[in-house]
Order: sequence, then C-alpha cells, then structure tokens
Amino acid sequence: MLGKIRNCSLDKSTFKINFDNGDLYVEFISFQMVRIFQNRKRPSFAVINNKIVGGQDLSFNFKGKKVELTNGNLLLYVFNNGLIKLFTKDGKIVIESKDDIIDLDKQNASDEIENLKFVSTFLSHENEAFFGLGDKAGPLNKRNYEFANWNSDIPQAHVETMKSLYKSIPFFVGIHDSSTYGVFLDNTYRSVFNFLNKDNESFYFGASGGELDYYIMVGDNIKSIVRLFSSLIGTYPLPQIWTLGNQQSRWSYWCENEAQGIVDSYKKYKIPLDVIHLDIDYMDGYRVFTTSEKRFPKIKEWISSLSSDGIKVVTIIDPGVKVDESYSVYQKGIANNHFAKLGKDIYVNQVWPGDSVFPTFSSKDTRLWWGDNLDYLISIGVSGIWNDMNEPASFKGPLPYNVTFKSDNGLIRHDEIHNVYGHLMAEATYDRLFKTGKRPFIITRSCFAGTNRYSTVWTGDNQSIWDHLRLAIPQQISLGISGVSFVGTDIGGFGGDATPELMSRWIEVGCFSPLMRNHSAFNSKRQEPWMFDKLTLDIYRKYVNLRYKLIPYMYDLFHIEEIYGDPLIRSIFYNFPEEKSFFNNNDEFMLGENLLISPVVTSGSVTKLVALPKGKWFDYWTNEIVEGEYIIKKAPLDVCPIFVKSGAIIPNFVDGLQRVSSQDKIIFDIYQGKGKYVHYQDDGETFDYRKGIFNQYEIVLDDDKIQIELIKNGYEKLYKEIEIHYHCDSGLSQFKIDKFELNKKIFVKL
Ligand code: GLC
Repeated sequence: MLGKIRNCSLDKSTFKINFDNGDLYVEFISFQMVRIFQNRKRPSFAVINNKIVGGQDLSFNFKGKKVELTNGNLLLYVFNNGLIKLFTKDGKIVIESKDDIIDLDKQNASDEIENLKFVSTFLSHENEAFFGLGDKAGPLNKRNYEFANWNSDIPQAHVETMKSLYKSIPFFVGIHDSSTYGVFLDNTYRSVFNFLNKDNESFYFGASGGELDYYIMVGDNIKSIVRLFSSLIGTYPLPQIWTLGNQQSRWSYWCENEAQGIVDSYKKYKIPLDVIHLDIDYMDGYRVFTTSEKRFPKIKEWISSLSSDGIKVVTIIDPGVKVDESYSVYQKGIANNHFAKLGKDIYVNQVWPGDSVFPTFSSKDTRLWWGDNLDYLISIGVSGIWNDMNEPASFKGPLPYNVTFKSDNGLIRHDEIHNVYGHLMAEATYDRLFKTGKRPFIITRSCFAGTNRYSTVWTGDNQSIWDHLRLAIPQQISLGISGVSFVGTDIGGFGGDATPELMSRWIEVGCFSPLMRNHSAFNSKRQEPWMFDKLTLDIYRKYVNLRYKLIPYMYDLFHIEEIYGDPLIRSIFYNFPEEKSFFNNNDEFMLGENLLISPVVTSGSVTKLVALPKGKWFDYWTNEIVEGEYIIKKAPLDVCPIFVKSGAIIPNFVDGLQRVSSQDKIIFDIYQGKGKYVHYQDDGETFDYRKGIFNQYEIVLDDDKIQIELIKNGYEKLYKEIEIHYHCDSGLSQFKIDKFELNKKIFVKL
C-alpha cells in the first residue's frame, strides 16, 4: 500500500507523487494517453514509443488527500494509496478506482488473487463491455469472464473457461456510456484481468511480480484506442505479398517425395498455392538448424526447383536445443553461455528432441547467435520461419520460476521472462531475416504485446470441431484489437478429424484470415482439400480462388495497418462504433472497411441469420441490394454469405491465378454509392517502399461518376490494364481504362 500522499512535483514532463511508502509517476504521453507507473527495474519489452508529445498544458494542484493533474485535455485525480479517477476535459468519466484496492472482498475475487503482488480495482459501469486480451478462448466481449496471462501450451480442446492460451497481451478496451478507453498493463509477469463482475460493480487487474506500470488511452471509439495502443507498441510491417497466398502444412510431410506430391496435387486439382510448410520431421532427430539427410537428401536442390515453380518453403524451428555433445549448435551454445540455468547448472527439460536446453533470448548476443544459426536455412532457400513451442513448452513439468536467463540488464528469472520468451525468439529471427533485404516472414505461437513488430501468429493447436471454427472469429478479432493483425487459425483444425462439411465451412472463414494455412496433426485424418470428396474440393477451390482475387485488397489493408495499426479482421462495431448490438456478435466479422462476412458455423445449417449495420449492402454473390437489421440468407454448403458496403471500391487480381505474382492487370469492383479508395502497389518483397518506391491510385466514387487518378508514381511497374466492374441496382457493367499519367484525372460517367 502506498499510503498517504505527501507531495507532488513536476519535473520536465513527469509528475512525481510522493506517498508514505513509495513514489508514483504520471506522464501524459499525449493529449489522449496517460501513463501511471512506479520505477521499473528493466526497460519495457513491448513499448517502443512512449515519448511525450510536446505542447501539452501540464499542471497540478495538490489538495491534501488528492492531487489533480492535467494536460489540458485529460484530468487525473490521484488519491491516497494511488487510487485514481480520470476524466476528459468536458467532465466525462473515463475510469475510476474502487476504494478497497487491496482489501478486495475475497468473495468477489477469484483464487488468482492470492498470487498477485498488486491489484488495481475499478468501478465497472452498467453494461460496460471489455475487449482485447489477445487470444483468449472466450467470446469477443470479455465482461463476466476472468483471464490470466501466462503463455501456455494447451493441447486439450480450448474452451472459454480456460484462463490462458499461448499468448499474453495485457491490454483491453473498455466501452461504457461516457467513454471508450484502453488500458495496457506493461508487465510481463503472470497477470490477471478479472471482469467477472461478481459484485456487479467492479473489475480488477494485477500482476504477480514486477512494478505497476499502466497506460490509459482515451478516444472516441475503439478504432482510436487501437491506434493509440499501436503507436505505443508498433505495428506489423508490410509483409511480402506471397505470404498472403494459400499455405499448406501437416505434421509432417515426412520426406521430399511426399511434400512434392502435395505441391503436385495442388496443381492437378487447380487450387492456388504459394507455400508449403515443413514440420519437425524435416530435421535430423529434431535438432534445430539441421535437415534430415535421409528424408530430404537434396533439400537445397528441391527447394530451388520449388522456387522456380513459384512455391516457397517455410520450416519450423523450436527453441529447445537437443542435449547432444556431438551437435555443434549445442556445443557452441554451451561454450558461449547461451542457455538458461538453474543455480550454476544448465537447466534441462524435455521437448521433441528429448533432453533439451533453452536459449537465453533475453540477451543480445544469444539472439545474434540464434540468427547466425538461421544462416543454414537461409542458404538452402527457406523463405520463412515458423517458431513453435516457445511459451516455452516443456514435457517434464513447467520450468521452475527460478530458472535464470542472462539478459542485457542482468539475470532474468523465468517468472519474468516467460511471457516474452516467444517475443524475444521472434525478435532474434526477425533481425536475421531482415538482413536478407526481404521483408521477414515469421510465424509464432507464443507472443506478448508488441510481438506483432516481428511476427505473424497462429492460434495454436485447435481441434477439428465446430466450436473451434466458431472460436476462430472472436479469437482473430480480439487479437486484432490487441495489435496482432497478421493472424490465422489452423484451417480444418489441428487435432481430430475434420468432416467434409466442417472443412468446407472452415475454408469459407479461413480464406479471409491474413495467415491462411491448413495444418493438421499426424494422427488426424488427412486434411488437404482433395482428401474429402468432390464437393469439398470444389468448395475449397472456390474460396481459395476468392482469396487470390482479394489479395490486392488485403495488401492495401496491410499498408494501412502498418501506418495506423487497424487490423484486417474486425468486429462490425470497429467500423460502426455506434452499433452497440454488435458488441456481442461472435459469428460475423469484417475484412477491412468494405466486406462483411457472415459465415455458417454450425453443423447442418443451410441458412444464416445475418445482422447488418445501417445502410445499403450488396450481396457479394448475387448483387442483390439488402438493407435492414436482420435478414435470413440461404447458405447451402458452398455459400458463405458475404456483403459489400455501398460505396465500396475493392481491388481484385484476375480470376484463376495459381500463385501470388506481380500483375499487369487490376480490376476494381465498385459498388454504387459514395466512396473513396486509395490502392497501393509496390514490389511486394523488399523494403524499397520505405524509400518511396510505390504507386498509389485514387478512386473517388460519387453516385454515377467515378474519377481515377494516379496520385503517386514511385514504382516503375504500373498496371497496364485497369478494369472497372460497376455493381448497381440495375446489374453489373464492365469497362476498361488503359492509360495513366501521373496526376491526370480520368473521369467516367457510369
Ligand atoms: C505443436 C504445434 C503444432 C506442430 C506440432 C509438431 O503442437 O502447435 O502446430 O505441428 O507441435 O511440431
């Protein structure tokens, strides 16, 4: 307990409030964001930009039991014991502490509270909704649930009562009648967010170690909060465009012939494919950074022949290094002190290779060493790295809390580093791949806030069950709210056997996931699209084709995402914040601003009750115009109900592409109404775009007129052909535009 306030001072831009038992600092990072913190032992792993924005009108007023602090826009009261009350300048309450910060009524708390070093309790408003917290297995709205952040390998079916999964993002958005705000608790220890609301008036969060350090963001809507959070932790950098292609995986494709057979079958069945993944069995005895001589004897030549066919190879890498005196990665790691210790000894647990040791990714020299090891995979032509088991998972019980990892700031114990272990492994991998000059492609299972700067994520070991298809929607939306935009689930489910119907419905959802990968476990029914029946195969092909058409739209979304942090997969209220009924909608989502997807996610259903926000919507398949709060849509197995916003402009690649590749032709689907859209184009591969080497085409739609203009021409390859597909109440019309000049507007009357 901090006790009573003694005094307050302002040093440059930092307020220091001195209590009987310690100090609390307050910084207004910007007009919309305030940080409340104690002295940290270690710099943040998550935050990369908390520089204080200048020009704020900072002042304070100390009134005995409380200090009033302001930046001219926000007003923060700090009371004894560090309790707070935050308002906007027009007097709207944002968040308010509940008095009994420590003597929390145990009846209203959960067992988790026993392990917390500090707890902050706040009043919850009637109907307040909570969103975010990464990939928890519950619904979108986290009210009435409790979650803990402790990265966990959970092979059992993920259910909503589970407190933790693989990822920890201690960030949530709260929405109540007076405000929309976000809270980020910048603490890597096990933390708890309790929105159970047992007393109907409070929620709390706390952590089991470290210091109190949290940011409160205030905005007009959820989008503005996500953008503020993204400004703190960074965004996902624009990916190479092929990473948006279809990816096929299996634990495992055991040998070169089998993997080649998969690529050949994709060709045979005319389904687009860009990537094949190699799971742990490509290695020699699960030794990371090796390949099996027996199963992949000519791996370099094979990868090179795949590459001339346009196929990329991604290989899995786990953190656990096999204990083997004759294995050079182990030898060098030991020689250079790169492994975690228990006391004076190297700590050993078991993972796939048997006895294994754990790299100290918290130290820069270990990260560099890890990166050097990647040279081998890069040299044989691997295009992306899939980081798994990096919670870290261990088969002989959890790593004890007092296992230590060397770091750039002294030794770190396991309880502090655990939640950022995958984050640091991703950083090590990113830094090495960055040096290739291409945009790094990394997939990670575990992560923390800010890992999105380095890596995409998938949601781990789901099952081939309808519940997990349904879960994929709130899970991906919540990850997006938490800064993780490049997400995907194992399409078809990892464990268990997908039925043809489940597979069909899953691809209808999965084709919109930024990371589109079909993956399954060795003991499950084969899950490649042709392993079912003709109908499933045809449905699979239809939706992969749809995905390839939409790649330029998704790439545009990534361009925007890199700037602001807006996720690709969004809840409807992200785009329509006034439509609060969508707070609890767990079976629809939007891709960007324009596409609303209302998939069928229950077995046997061939209709869907579609909830639509206000406005006119076009049925994607029929062009029919629909309006209204709810409609019932027929959705036979091959139909995923998709709706396009009136006024939408959507760039498409031509039909029938088998790989993502640079295109001479672009098609703009334009939907009657009013709208504006900027389409982005670059080399799809390098960081040259950061030097301005890209093009932008602006389209303005004003009912029956459109205006197209090349507003930026930095990249030499312009489209040679532009086709317009205009959708309106009287049907579809098509025409071509074939010549562009910079800053010359082309007008078309529709
Ligand atoms: C873990 C991963 C899974 C992978 C398997 C074998 O369970 O989550 O995707 O296939 O390990 O490497």
